[in-house]
Amino acid sequence: MSQPPQNAFAADVNQWSDIPGWFHWREGQQEAVEVFGEGSTFVEVGSYLGRSLCSLADVVRASGRDFTVVGVDTCRGSGEEGLANENAHGPAVEFGGGTFAGLLHRNVIACGFADDVHVFISSSPKAADFFVDGSLAWVHLDARHDYDSVAADVDAWLPKVKAGGWLSGDDYDELLWPGVVAAVRDRLPGAQGWLTAQWRWLKP
Ligand SMILES: C[S@@+](CC[C@H](N)C(=O)[O-])C[C@H]1O[C@@H](n2cnc3c(N)ncnc32)[C@H](O)[C@@H]1O
Repeated sequence: MSQPPQNAFAADVNQWSDIPGWFHWREGQQEAVEVFGEGSTFVEVGSYLGRSLCSLADVVRASGRDFTVVGVDTCRGSGEEGLANENAHGPAVEFGGGTFAGLLHRNVIACGFADDVHVFISSSPKAADFFVDGSLAWVHLDARHDYDSVAADVDAWLPKVKAGGWLSGDDYDELLWPGVVAAVRDRLPGAQGWLTAQWRWLKP
């Protein structure tokens, strides 16, 4: 996705699809609310401005079932990465004076999920420490995409997923994000491609 102009960050938000982002795994969110039992917890690691996170909350609400939705983000962006060394989140960080936490929270509230979505401002591996091992039904990784970061994310969140749960992630694309593919292959040989450019590992 190309970067929106700075003033786009202040544009009105009424629903998840109004929020800038790169999200394209809504089918996976719909599958999750069908597969997992009520009371399950879903964690998204890397929420940016809340597009995918608010979609998840929307899918949960539409299901009429009770799930806990948590989004984890430093709110300071991923820095330069990818083939073009693009600082894709930089304009949002700058817009917010060094953090886009305010924009993310505003978007969650604007979508009507103030009481349903829990935003955890933290680095990914540190946030994982706050969850009990085997307590999470689904953790979806979409934070920084270099090999070491993805490997660290997998290592941190893997023990937190319950038996029968999912650990998954975005940008499973050999050409665009070779670090993601290599880290997932090394850490989770049983992981498979899922949906469009996602990977998923089912915990035995
Ligand atoms: C690709 S964006 C997430 C996009 C979002 N899931 C969407 O679809 O709209 C990656 C996000 O990961 C966050 N991030 C990068 N490294 C992180 C880390 N170590 N811990 C937590 N968040 C991180 C960045 O701040 C950024 O918001």
